[in-house]
Amino acid sequence: MSSSTLFVNAAQVVTCAGPPRARRGDEMRDAAILTRAAVATDGGRIAAVGPQAQLEHAYPSAARIDCDGGVLTPGLVDSHTHGIFGKPRFEEQELRAAGAGYMEIANRGGGIHSSVRDVRARGEDELFALALPRLRRLAAHGTTTVEVKSGYGLSLDDELKSLRVIRRLQSALPLRIVPTFLGAHEIPLEYRAKPHSREEYIALIVNEMIPRVAREQLARFADIFCEPGVFTLDESRTILGAARAHGLALKLHADELEPGGAAELAAELGATSADHLAAISDAGVRALAASATVATLLPGTMLFLGKTRQAPARALLDAGAAIALATDFNPGTSPTVNFPLMLTLAVSQLRLSVAEALLAATVNGAAALGLQAETGQISAGYSADLALFDIEDVRELPYWYGDHRCRRSWARGNACHA
Ligand code: NIG
Ligand code: FE
Repeated sequence: MSSSTLFVNAAQVVTCAGPPRARRGDEMRDAAILTRAAVATDGGRIAAVGPQAQLEHAYPSAARIDCDGGVLTPGLVDSHTHGIFGKPRFEEQELRAAGAGYMEIANRGGGIHSSVRDVRARGEDELFALALPRLRRLAAHGTTTVEVKSGYGLSLDDELKSLRVIRRLQSALPLRIVPTFLGAHEIPLEYRAKPHSREEYIALIVNEMIPRVAREQLARFADIFCEPGVFTLDESRTILGAARAHGLALKLHADELEPGGAAELAAELGATSADHLAAISDAGVRALAASATVATLLPGTMLFLGKTRQAPARALLDAGAAIALATDFNPGTSPTVNFPLMLTLAVSQLRLSVAEALLAATVNGAAALGLQAETGQISAGYSADLALFDIEDVRELPYWYGDHRCRRSWARGNACHA
């Protein structure tokens, strides 16, 4: 009993407790909020959740953490970030304000290509040194599990370099970090003109990158930017088929800017998640609702790109799809580390209730990473992943928008932020 810890004196413990799977429909109505409750942890796991008086009696010698009237939630699960990049791309924000489109900037060699040039020019140590404080900032806002993608290397060596940086971050930080291979983020510029072709780049991904990433166990997921003007549905089938054959689980950037049937493809392939979906079609909504694929919504991206459209969150929920929320933290379209701000956008722009937004940011985010039995809820047996916020009622979390209310957070019982 010596390594046990009791979290006491929280105004609310928002447990999100329930079955170890993505929640849908009416299951999203209740985030399971307890008052006068405490949480006991032991060896990095949650041991018990219940009335504080009872737990104090059951764990007389436990160390105590005083939540001092704050709100304790499951650590937030950010299931979509592009955390490995070099310089910021602030100049594109003004270009967009002056009327340039995202794809237009990309076609001029900016956008993803500009981050690719930059990442290729930097060494592994330098990329690690840049990523470390960025992930610490994510943790400072209450995130305790974060998915991190490669995708700004787009050559065998530069993709492997990015994934090795992610591996080093896993041992350097208490956060739980889930690595994703995104070699199919774009067709790099050198494969767009003779003597090379896009087919050759796809062959490189399929025949060299994926086997190497799988052999070195550098990623759990493979992702692709399946979008008109980037990778086609057929190319996505080929690449994701190869990834699956090598044991990687699948994610797609799907229907982000224009509808193209990517959500339907995600459902057809049994992808773990289909992400973005701001331009999803009605058929795409139905396909996701009928599948196990989690629909991951990234409202910060549409906000930052200056779009008025957002993913049809209510239609997805009403159709019965499982929805998650994430930051899409990246240098081009969503340079934010503030996950609670995504909760604000979820309520104010996607029209979710606070409970729906919270469950989408915890339990369903975990499901979008295949971690639904490990993290995302405060229940006995789960990892001790917790966030403590300086508020008295959880509805204040989306309310004080853009603020920094996370006081402390823990992953596997270890402090991520204090
Ligand atoms: O999720 N859509 C593709 N990838 C990123 C943006 C990448 C970038 O612009 O650097 C996204 O929005
Ligand atoms: Fe993304």
